Amino acid sequence: MDRKKFIQSLLGTSALAAMPYSSFAGESNEILDLLKGLEKPVSGSMYGFSAAPIPKLKVGIIGLGNRGAGLIEMFQYMVEKGQCEIVALCDIREKQVSKAVEKLATFQSIKPVTYTGKDDVWKDLVTQDNVDLVLVTTPWRWHTPMALYAMENDKHVACEVPIAYTMEDCWNLVRTAERTKKHCIMIENCCYNEEELFVLNMIENGVFGDVTHTEGAYLHDLRAHMLSEEYYEGQWRLKQHVTRDGNFYTTHGLGPIANYLKIGRGDNFAHLSSMSSRELNLSETAKRLNASEQVFKCGDMNNTMIRTEKGKTILLQFDVHTGRPYSRINKVVGTKAVHDGYPSRLFIDTEEPVFWGHNWLGDEEYSTYKTKYQHPLIKKMKSVSQQFKQGHGGMDFVMMYRLVRCLNLGLPLDLNVYDGVMWSAITPLSELSTASKSLSIPIPDFTGGKWKEERELEIMRRLASD
Ligand SMILES: NC(=O)c1ccc[n+]([C@@H]2O[C@H](COP(=O)([O-])OP(=O)(O)OC[C@H]3O[C@@H](n4cnc5c(N)ncnc54)[C@H](O)[C@@H]3O)[C@@H](O)[C@H]2O)c1
Repeated sequence: MDRKKFIQSLLGTSALAAMPYSSFAGESNEILDLLKGLEKPVSGSMYGFSAAPIPKLKVGIIGLGNRGAGLIEMFQYMVEKGQCEIVALCDIREKQVSKAVEKLATFQSIKPVTYTGKDDVWKDLVTQDNVDLVLVTTPWRWHTPMALYAMENDKHVACEVPIAYTMEDCWNLVRTAERTKKHCIMIENCCYNEEELFVLNMIENGVFGDVTHTEGAYLHDLRAHMLSEEYYEGQWRLKQHVTRDGNFYTTHGLGPIANYLKIGRGDNFAHLSSMSSRELNLSETAKRLNASEQVFKCGDMNNTMIRTEKGKTILLQFDVHTGRPYSRINKVVGTKAVHDGYPSRLFIDTEEPVFWGHNWLGDEEYSTYKTKYQHPLIKKMKSVSQQFKQGHGGMDFVMMYRLVRCLNLGLPLDLNVYDGVMWSAITPLSELSTASKSLSIPIPDFTGGKWKEERELEIMRRLASD
């Protein structure tokens, strides 16, 4: 791919059409000008947005592969309580649709309308009259077009991660949500994990003092999944690694961190620098397995450093090529405490500095904190989530529960369009930086300046008990 096409693939198709250069050399100043040129006027009007209550939410799901099929089960509790109903299912593969219909029939008596076969049959699901919420769980390339079409057709949309991977798509999502006044969120389940909510609750209650640095990651050995001919439909995920290099899966690590740092609610991402290592692991495995794709552009490890407007730093790592055991790191460094994940450990600073002897809390003291600062949402939902299919240790259920209940009650959602777009935009920006010797890239403000207003995190808000 030549440099011009590469830049266009990250920024969006309109980027180079709008550029003022007759011949594009890909110099740093040109890239920064292009980014600036893509910015669109936005108002931040979706902060605090709530739609009219929908007492029984009607859901349509597009994409019934690994994720879509799993998420169906998260609705059982709310379906049985009459809070929602799955009224439409869609996948290009007929077999996926019939398996999903079978699964749904184990807890919902009303049959959904089904759509299958063609690449664009999902448009019929979106325009089905009684659908209130479109849930998108397809490969990445469909996320933005499906979300935009849903909003244009008067539907709320909840989309899997990442919600976009070009800058143009990021801007279009924000602009469309603000114009249509529809909820458009990225369902980042790790924001609902017990450990992340425990850390957030401690931060909100001052245990960490002021937070200065955080680290997050997506470290997950996906070689077997990506190289399998069956696991991902058409090996869509492997193909990303052939032509791109950067941090492709930012949101599992970054979503919870953005909550810790109140990104969009008092602080914002300011700029980033990104660097990838060479690639060896995935190609060596592909050769051993005699796989069809054996040459990959994506490095084995990407490190992206982000600085916020208020001077906090974030190290975000991405590695799905090596056998490094699963981790999202989940490190938080504050003036009074430090947390490290995998496994979860806590350090509480002493009043006076000491020469030696900094230690993580012992099991007993750690448990005291764990009990005292367990997030109220987890406290409330744990017994329920354990009776039903939980999804990733409970977080998928808690996330879907909150989404359905906030829509039932006509409340602002925990996550908004700005969150999804801000966390997703780090991917194309990391690719630009990686391809430009770690050039420092300014991160645009998608909130129209609204990030400057201190706001409570919606995820800390309690709902009336059910
Ligand atoms: N949050 C999480 O923990 C988590 C976990 C797994 C996957 N995901 C995300 O979920 C999404 C799906 O991943 P997956 O593992 O289920 O992939 P998958 O390949 O198993 O499933 C994708 C499904 O979408 C269908 N599809 C493709 N194009 C379509 C179209 N035009 N119309 C309708 N259906 C179409 C495919 O047939 C397939 O069944 C990805 O965005 C991924 O990042 C998130």
